[in-house]
Amino acid sequence: MRMIDLINKKKHGESLTGAEIDYIVQGYTQGKIPDYQMSAFLMAVYFKGMNTEEISNLTMSMVNSGEVVDLSGIEGIKVDKHSSGGVGDKLSLIIIPLCASLGIPVAKMSGRGLGHTGGTIDKLESIEGFRTELSKEEFINNLNMYNMAIVSQAENLTPADKKIYALRDVTGTVDSIPLIASSIMSKKIASGCDRIVLDVKVGSGAFMKSLDDAVILARTMVDIGKSLGKTTIAIVTDMNQPLGHEVGNANEVREAIEVLKGNGAGDVTAISLTIASYMAVLAGVFPNFESAYKGMGELIESGKALEKFKELVRIQGGNEQITENPDLLPQARKHIEVKASESGFINSIDAESIGVSAMLLGAGRKTKEDKIDPSAGITILRKVGDEVKIGDTLCVLHTNLPEWDDAEKLSKGAFSIKNEKPAPIKYVHEVIE
Ligand code: URA
Repeated sequence: MRMIDLINKKKHGESLTGAEIDYIVQGYTQGKIPDYQMSAFLMAVYFKGMNTEEISNLTMSMVNSGEVVDLSGIEGIKVDKHSSGGVGDKLSLIIIPLCASLGIPVAKMSGRGLGHTGGTIDKLESIEGFRTELSKEEFINNLNMYNMAIVSQAENLTPADKKIYALRDVTGTVDSIPLIASSIMSKKIASGCDRIVLDVKVGSGAFMKSLDDAVILARTMVDIGKSLGKTTIAIVTDMNQPLGHEVGNANEVREAIEVLKGNGAGDVTAISLTIASYMAVLAGVFPNFESAYKGMGELIESGKALEKFKELVRIQGGNEQITENPDLLPQARKHIEVKASESGFINSIDAESIGVSAMLLGAGRKTKEDKIDPSAGITILRKVGDEVKIGDTLCVLHTNLPEWDDAEKLSKGAFSIKNEKPAPIKYVHEVIE
C-alpha cells in the first residue's frame, strides 16, 4: 500500500477498507507516515466524510494503537461519560460524586484543556495536593472502595488519537464529524467501561455550531458504541453561552461545590443532573429517567453528593477543607469588571470568545507545554435573557497578568445586547439512544 494512493482514494470520495485505515493509523502513529501526508488525508476526510463502517474501523484502529484498560476486576456496571468540549464545563466534578454515591463505579480518565475549552484535570489540579496520577493499584482500589477514581489519561491509551488530534488542532480538521466521533469513541472503548453517556455540545462554544450537525455526530457515536457492544446514549446540550457562571479552573471547582450544595445555576444544574440520571439508568440503578432525576435531586438536598465530592478530594490527596471554605482555592490578585455600554436584554454570549478571553488571562494553554494559572478566569454575572442597564457589570475577569486589554475587549464583545428579550434557551436539545 502507498499513502499517496489512499489520499487520492479519499480525495475522490471513495471508501477505504479496514486494512487501508489500519495502514494509515498505525503507520502515522509509528512515524512511518509524515505529517504532511497525514494532514492531506485528514483534509480529504474533512471534505469527503466517511461511512459508518469506515468510522468504526477508524475507531478500532485507534483503540488498537495502544492498551485497553481492564476493569473486569471491578464489580458493577461501569458507566462513563464524555463531553465533546465546551466552555465552563465542570460537569464531571458534579456527576462523578452523584453517580458514585449511588454505588455506580465511575472510572474516569480525563484530559487537560487546550485552546478555548477547559479540561477536568486542570480544574482538579487547582485543589492543593490533588493527585491526578494514580498507580494502577490505587486506581482499582479506589474504585472498589469508593466507586470513583479520576486520572489524567495514560500515555499508552489511544496514542494514535493523541498524535492525530494534535495534528488536527493545527490543520483546521478538528470539526469533522467522523474524526470527532472516532476520537471520542476510541478513548471510551479503550478506557474499559461497559456503557457510555455522551454530552454532545452544540452552539457558539462547541465544535458543532448547528443542531443538525450535533445530532449527526451524536447518532454516529451512538451507532459506533452499539456496533462495538457498548450501550451508548448521547445528549445534545446547549453551548450558546458558557455553562453556569464560572470559567477557569479554581473558579469552576468553586461553582461545582455550589451546585453540589444545591445553589447552582439553572443550566449547569439541569445538564449535570440529566447526564448523571442517564448514567444511573444505564447502570440499572433506576428504572427510568424521571425517577433517576428525582433521586439525583435528593442526593444534592441531603448533602450526600457533596460529602462524596469531599471524599473524592481526600482520597486523591487534596485539601478537603475547600468544600467548607472554597476561599482556600487559589485566587487571582486582580479583578476587572466588564460593563455594559448599552441597555437591553442579553441575547447571546459567545462562549468561544469567553473561553479565549479566559485563556488570555492565564487560565488556558496556547500550546501543550504552557503553564496555566489556576486562579485566572471569568465570572459571568449576566446570562442570556437577563435585562441590563448601561454601566451594569456583565462579567468579572480574574488574572495575575500585567495586561488584560485583549481579554477585556473580547469578553465585552461576546455579549450581544438587544432591545427584545430572547426566547428562553433550551438546555437539553435532544437525547439520542
Ligand atoms: N473531544 C475529543 O476527545 N476529540 C475530538 O475530536 C473533539 C473533542
